[in-house]
Formats: sequence, structure tokens, C-alpha cells
Amino acid sequence: GAADLGGYRYYMQKEIFEQPRAVADTLLDVNAVMPELFGDKAWRVFNGIDSVLLLACGGSYHAALTAKYWIESLAGLPTAVEIASEFRYRDGVANPNTLVVAVSQSGETADVLGAVHVAKRAGMIHTLAICNVPTSALVRECALNFITRAGIEIGVASTKAFTTQLVALFLLALTLAQLRGRLTDEEERQHLHALRHLPDAMAKVLALEPQIMAWSETLTRKENILFLGRGMHYPIALEGALKMKEISYIHAEAYPAGELKHGPLALVSDEMPVVAVAPNDRLLEKLRSNMHEVSARNGRLFVFADVDCGLSSGPGLNVIRLNEYYGPLSPILHTIPMQLLAFHAALARGTDIDKPRNLAKSVTVE
Ligand code: G6P
Repeated sequence: GAADLGGYRYYMQKEIFEQPRAVADTLLDVNAVMPELFGDKAWRVFNGIDSVLLLACGGSYHAALTAKYWIESLAGLPTAVEIASEFRYRDGVANPNTLVVAVSQSGETADVLGAVHVAKRAGMIHTLAICNVPTSALVRECALNFITRAGIEIGVASTKAFTTQLVALFLLALTLAQLRGRLTDEEERQHLHALRHLPDAMAKVLALEPQIMAWSETLTRKENILFLGRGMHYPIALEGALKMKEISYIHAEAYPAGELKHGPLALVSDEMPVVAVAPNDRLLEKLRSNMHEVSARNGRLFVFADVDCGLSSGPGLNVIRLNEYYGPLSPILHTIPMQLLAFHAALARGTDIDKPRNLAKSVTVE
């Protein structure tokens, strides 16, 4: 009821603004990087694995895609990510030394449960659930677990569950890196410091809402939006497009920016705005040239950059800057403008934001 909304008009909006608290709670018992964060038996399991397979659906799949970048770069473990409904009906090759990580807010998504069954039946018994509901079927099904503390999420479009999944997956990457001798004590200290400072950094991004709202007024009048990202921010662009289509019903799709010239550039015009996730990482220069390709075709760019990016708004180019570049945890900060952009576009269109048509919070049947 209205009381639970605590002054917000929509649960999704409330949940977006709860994210600093959700991340802080998820980190509450994390004083060090250690396998025990994932269960008593995690040390033995993690030491025996040679690869990781992440399984998920929807927004959780985008969290899993982000984790691939972290696990491969930090821990050096080959990592695959599969949509659960595809994995379960495919004749894949089972590796018993793979750590199977199921990522799910609810822990009740039928395809995720089905995929874990298929994996176990094929001999992949090292299973870990990253889940927001400790009593869920998925947590019971998996040998190990990490419970995110987003709290109950009511909006159908996932927000705080997504960012806390990312926190859990980053901790997993750090833990696997440590066990493989790829994390010094100093690096551990720095990463933990960055994690603890994350709620403050997220609050600063939330404060960009008025600027994002102004963009939504333009975007809400369009029928198509293209989202671009590179590297570990490509999954964040995917998440941005998913939020946009789920709640505003604007057709949106995401592309890795390097693929622009292999298709979607044909669609770019002043009627097809392009939203770019452009953090200050080593891919910024590459992304900048993709943005030129858009401008040259009269495309209107809406860029989420960081401070000191050397980009400023001009004709056809709109830039919002985040306060700082947040290193490997940057995808978590850059998720927030995606959520706010979709939320305000939907608000302007007057859709049923918390209960978008045809969608369910948790898909427990096939
Ligand atoms: C539904 C929801 C999405 C969610 C997906 C996976 O489609 O609308 O928000 O990302 O299910 O749900 P899960 O609970 O497994 O994360």
C-alpha cells in the first residue's frame, strides 16, 4: 500500500533509491575476501574447479554477463554465460570441474531451476546460487549460495536485485582470484575499500536524476532507441535497453559499440536516438569513434560519461557525467542512469510501471 511506498509513487522508483542501502546490507558481513562467504564447503569446491558457467534469465543474465569480464580478468578462469532456457535444451559438453553459478533474484524461475537440474544430471555437481530469497527452491537445489540483501523487490523490472547481484558476483571473482594466487593483500584491501564506498558513490549518481529526467522528455517521444556499450559496460547497455522496453514499451536494443558498423548503423537517423554508456576506461577512445559514426549520420547521442572524459554537450551530443570513474566496479554505478532513464520515460508515457503489461515478476512456469 501507499505506506510501504514511503513517499514514492512507484515501487520501482523506491527500489532504485534503496540501492545504496541494499548494497551496504549485502556487504554487511563481508570483512574479508574468503570462500566462506559462499558456504562452508566453498573452499574445497572452488579449489577443484577449472572454469565457470553462469546460468540466468532476464536482468539476472545481464549481471552474469558482467561477471564474465570480472572472473576472467581477475581470476583468470574461463567463463561461459548462458541463458537458462537455452542451456537446458541444448546438447552441451559437460565439464565436471566447472563451477555452475545460477543467478536469480527470486530463486524460483522455472528455466533457471531446469538448467541447474540439467547441469547436475550431466555430472556438474559444483553449484552455487546467487539469490535474493534464502528460502527459495534454487538455494535448496545448489550446494553453495550467496544471499543478496536487496530486500523484497516488488517492481517487475529488477533494480536493486540487479546491483546487489553484481556485488555478489564481484566478490566471487575476487574470491576465485585469491584462491588462484592472483590477488595480493593490498589489492584485496583496495577492492574492499571501493566496495564499502560504493553506497556513497551510488547516492551521488542518484542525484543526477533531474538531468536524466530532462533527457527522458526527448526520448519518450521516440519509438526506437539504440543502447551502446563496450567491454563490461556492454551488459549494462543490454540492461538499459531491457528496462526501457519492459516499462516504457519503447523499442530498445543494445549493441556492443564495435558492432555498430555491422548492422545497426543503417537504422541511425535523427529519429533513432543512441544512448551510450561511456565510462572513463581504456575503451573510451574506441567508443568515441563509434559516437562519431552516429553523429555523421545525424544521430542524436545521449552519453553517460565520467568526470574528466573530455566530452561536453554540443549539437547532437548530450552528455551527463558521473562524479568519478569507479574502476572495475563502474558497471554498478552506470546501471543507475539506465534505470532512471527508463523509469522517467515510462512515467512520461503513463504506463503501469510496477506491473508492465504481459510480464510477471517471477516466471515459475515455462
Ligand atoms: C522476469 C522478471 C525480470 C527478471 C527475470 C529473471 O522476467 O520480470 O525482472 O530479471 O524474470 O528473474 P529471476 O528471479 O530469476 O532473477
